[in-house]
Parts: sequence; C-alpha cells; structure tokens
Amino acid sequence: MEELEVIPLHKSAKYMLECCQLINSEWKRSETARLRSLECSCDDLPTSLVLIKDRKVIGHAKLTPIPSIKSGCFVESVVISAELRGKGFGSFLMKKAEEHCRNFLNLDAIYLSTKGQEKFYSKLGYSECGPISIYGAPSFLSVNNKISDTKQNVNKNVPVAPPLPPKIPDGRSTKTKTYMYKLL
Ligand code: ACO
Repeated sequence: MEELEVIPLHKSAKYMLECCQLINSEWKRSETARLRSLECSCDDLPTSLVLIKDRKVIGHAKLTPIPSIKSGCFVESVVISAELRGKGFGSFLMKKAEEHCRNFLNLDAIYLSTKGQEKFYSKLGYSECGPISIYGAPSFLSVNNKISDTKQNVNKNVPVAPPLPPKIPDGRSTKTKTYMYKLL
C-alpha cells in the first residue's frame, strides 16, 4: 500500500471539495454545512483525516474531542469510496488514525459509535462499551458518580468502560447504536 497516504485535511485544503463529496455520497447533507464542518479541521481536535490514493480522496475519518475524556477522542464519519470497499483501505485508514492519535495528539483511547459496522471495528481491536457523549456533559459516571477518565482508569487498573445497558428479554438491545473503544 505504498501509494497511499493519510493526511490531515487542513494541511492540504485542495482536497476539501472532494472530501465533502465523498462523505456526502454516504451521508447526504448540504454541501455548505459539510464544508463548514470540514473547515474546522486543525492540528488539535477536531481533525479530518483523508486517505489519498493516486492523488484522489478515497477515504475520510474525523477525530472529535470528547469534553469529559481529555485523553481520548471520538472517531466518526469513517468512509471509503463505495467501489473500493473490502480491499483493506478502511483498516489502513483506521490504523493511521490510531497512530495519529497516539503519536501526534498524545491520546490513549479512541471511542466511536456504529450501527452495522461492529464486525469491522471488532476485527480492528475495538470492544463494546457504554454510551459516550461528545456534547459537553460527562459521558458516563462511575459507581460513586465521578466522571470516568480513561487514563485515570488505566492507572488505577479499574474497568475503562461503564456497564452496558440491560438487554430486553427477546435479545433486542434497548440501544440503537453500539459504542466501542480501543486503548492505544
Ligand atoms: N461487516 C462485516 N465485516 C466487515 C464489514 C461489515 N460491514 N466491513 C468490513 N468488514 C471486514 C472485512 O471483510 C475485512 O475482514 P478481513 O480482514 O477478515 O478480510 C475487515 O473488516 C477489514 O475490511 P476493509 O476492507 O479494511 O474495510 P473497508 O475498506 O471496506 O472499510 C468501511 C470499511 C469504512 C466500514 C466501509 O465499508 C464504508 O465506508 N462503509 C460505509 C460507511 C460506513 O458505514 N462507515 C462506518 C460508520 S461508523 C463510524 O464512522 C465510527
């Protein structure tokens, strides 16, 4: 995969429109709103990473801050061009995103939510966890109602993730998304 590179979008703004079109081909949204969001990419968080092959954008992943977990981030809008799926590009992009988080952002965990791609992420080493909020409020509480922080938990050797919501009797879960995490 030598011809591939993963770069932060703000380092190469010429890929902005192509990246916007790729994401919108999967999750339709106004181009203006999408571009505005992509323009927020920066050296800190949020960061949009693009996967470039032969000078074309074929993949994207956005790293977003989690207000209550400073030592981690949330990855979202992971997408590979439809015609190139199933060839290992998604795995390559996630591996590079993890390296960026660990080596450049100095983070120790990645969180995400998915509805349908659980197997893809579990093959990459992600495990299921309780819900995470990226909207300011504490993401989850420990038993004594203190905010759980990944780094603190690792250091204290206590479970990283909160308990999963209970399953209802017929096996269907009460949640609509699966939250997952990976320690880096
Ligand atoms: N179900 C089961 N297995 C899967 C799936 C799936 N939906 N997708 C990939 N895999 C498996 C592959 O078979 C492969 O297994 P192998 O290593 O045993 O051969 C492994 O996962 C790696 O697959 P890749 O080829 O690296 O994955 P790909 O390049 O297709 O990228 C992705 C995966 C990003 C999910 C792509 O299919 C895609 O863009 N899907 C549409 C958008 C989407 O749903 N994105 C995820 C949203 S969730 C989020 O952003 C956090």
